[in-house]
Order: sequence, then C-alpha cells, then structure tokens
Amino acid sequence: MPIIAPSLLSANFLDLKADCDMLNASTADWYHLDVMDGRFVPNISFGPMLIDFFRRATTKVCDVHLMIQEPERYAEQFKNAGADNLTVHMEACTHLHRNIQQIHSLGMKAGVALNPHTPVSSLQDIIQDIDLVCLMSVNPGFGGQKFIPQTLEKIKQLRKMIDEKRLNVHIEIDGGVTLENAPSILAAGADVLVAGNTVFKAADPTEMISKLKSL
Ligand code: DX5
Ligand code: ZN
Repeated sequence: MPIIAPSLLSANFLDLKADCDMLNASTADWYHLDVMDGRFVPNISFGPMLIDFFRRATTKVCDVHLMIQEPERYAEQFKNAGADNLTVHMEACTHLHRNIQQIHSLGMKAGVALNPHTPVSSLQDIIQDIDLVCLMSVNPGFGGQKFIPQTLEKIKQLRKMIDEKRLNVHIEIDGGVTLENAPSILAAGADVLVAGNTVFKAADPTEMISKLKSL
C-alpha cells in the first residue's frame, strides 16, 4: 500500500485544528509540510514555527519539504520544530553531500527533491546516502497545478536505479496527484503520494485519503 502524505499547504489555515483532527483520524501516513522562502520559489508559505504547532497536533510523520536556498542555515531549527524527514532541493545545494550529512547527524531522515528539469541520473552518486527522493511533478511553489506527464518516465528510471543498487529509498511524487493519475504513478514505481488539492478540496477528504491508500 502506498504512503499517503497530504500537503497541508491546501488546508484551511483559519481552522487548522479541524484539518489536523481529520488527518489524524484518517488513513493518511505523513503530514507533508511545504516550506517556501520566496527566493528558491516565487512564493512564501511558512517556517519552523508552524511546524512546531503541527508536531504538537499529530503523532504522524512530519515530512518537511524545504523549497529554500541555503537549507543548511535552518536544518537545526526544523529538527527542533519536530521534523522527521527533511528534504532539500538538489538545485539549491552546492554541497548536497554535506547537507545530507548534516540532516542525518541531527537525527532526521534525509530527502532530495528534484525539479521537473533535473534528470534522475544526477542522483547517481548521492542515492546511496539518502532515505527519500521527492520527484517534483509540477514546478514547485504552488498547489493545484497540473501533473507533468514526463514524471512517469523519471519514476521508472529512479525505480531501476534504486533496485539495481538494492537500496531502500522512498520515491515520493509531489504535485498534481489525483485519483485518476495515481495508479500509473504507483505502477511506475513510486511509493509515496503527496496530495494537496486532491485531498483538501474533495467533498469528503477522509474518504479521498482512503481511496488513495487502497490503490
Ligand atoms: C508544490 C508543493 C506541493 C503542493 C502539492 O510546490 O511542494 O507539495 O502542495 O499540491 P497539489 O497536490 O495540489 O499539487
Ligand atoms: Zn511539497
């Protein structure tokens, strides 16, 4: 069964408690928390302070996706805020290997996110050091965008790379995931589905999470 990671970016920020209660009672596995700095991506979302609140609202895994420059300056703050997984963008890290070492030394799982234009082959010499790859299936910065079909080919390439090296690395797909395209995403080899709008704009979010979970 896939890991379902609803993105709180699409939650109702006037009533976050209700959305947290809904997620906690649902079959969702992870809270996917999107941090944006207005520099790496053209949007600003939230930072460690809000993640600290989410941490206290749930026992589920807090999967933090950093869309920020110089993530090394903030890794410790995100650890202190309660992040379990910390994902940095390859395009934002000159010294990616050092960033991964830092995340692990702080006691978190380490993820690397790739923008749509960044090839899977660029992971060749870091894949053995990480716990998760987040393949962006939209250009990062906003929820509610359309899934880029080329992502399916990237998932297959990444699944092959991971299996050939006999590694245990999650393949997380982020952006434009729907009930309609999720089966082909999973068939291509992904095991973590991020879903923002698909979950939070559904008539029945709990039911939508169960449907994704049972794919
Ligand atoms: C986009 C974020 C995503 C986003 C997904 O930059 O990283 O996690 O919230 O939202 P949907 O599922 O609506 O595309
Ligand atoms: Zn994300």
